Amino acid sequence: MTDATLPPADALRIARAFLPPRWYGNRYHYYYSRAKLRSDPLYPGVVEALRGSRAAVLDLGCGIGLLAHALRAAGVEVAYRGVDNDAPKIAQARQAAARAGLRDVAFEVIDLADAMPAHSGSVTVLDVLQFVPPEAQDAILDAAIARIADDGILVIRTGLDDGSTRARTTRRIDAFSRVMGWMNTGPKRYPDADALRARFEAAGLRSTFTPLYGNTPFNNWRIVAAR
Ligand SMILES: C[S@@+](CC[C@H](N)C(=O)[O-])C[C@H]1O[C@@H](n2cnc3c(N)ncnc32)[C@H](O)[C@@H]1O
Repeated sequence: MTDATLPPADALRIARAFLPPRWYGNRYHYYYSRAKLRSDPLYPGVVEALRGSRAAVLDLGCGIGLLAHALRAAGVEVAYRGVDNDAPKIAQARQAAARAGLRDVAFEVIDLADAMPAHSGSVTVLDVLQFVPPEAQDAILDAAIARIADDGILVIRTGLDDGSTRARTTRRIDAFSRVMGWMNTGPKRYPDADALRARFEAAGLRSTFTPLYGNTPFNNWRIVAAR
């Protein structure tokens, strides 16, 4: 299992890039990123999977761009482009990346339901699939697979529908986050592991599934696939 979270000093330094420009500004993303980076093994687990490749990364549903910070903190300097349909998050991502001096990083507002960006390299899809409708899930997966270059890596984190207690807890917390307004959408369908494996195999990708939930209560898995 991949359990490590970011070193506390790195988590704090990254979170500081999300502080508001003025003392009275909104500190939500500062506290959010600090807590997330300290508690969730997501980014170290993804960085570890990407470390072996020099291919550019396309981050689908990048949120506020924390993966870009985690990559650079770990000395991984591949080109990074993050896209998300939430314009305020992209504005925040751009501001924080500029403040942290991240090089070769770009962010764009794109709704994946309307358009999939052109790309060839590695692709990440982190905590996105369960929040989009089933047909959009399939479209995102097909587009991600088609964009994996020979030296590229596909890294997905998602909850899986495996009937476990963790799976039920994940659904409850994701639904609660929607009600509380922490997420702009609730959970739709959690992917099925066998269906995912079959999809990758049909596309000529080898895949490995590893738990990636650390000390969190979620049923989150890291899926790494490559040609
Ligand atoms: C739980 S957040 C994960 C953010 C980021 N991947 C991370 O792990 O830090 C899910 C993200 O998917 C984005 N998203 C959902 N539907 C989308 C769509 N149709 N097009 C682009 N982004 C979308 C949301 O705006 C949100 O930022």
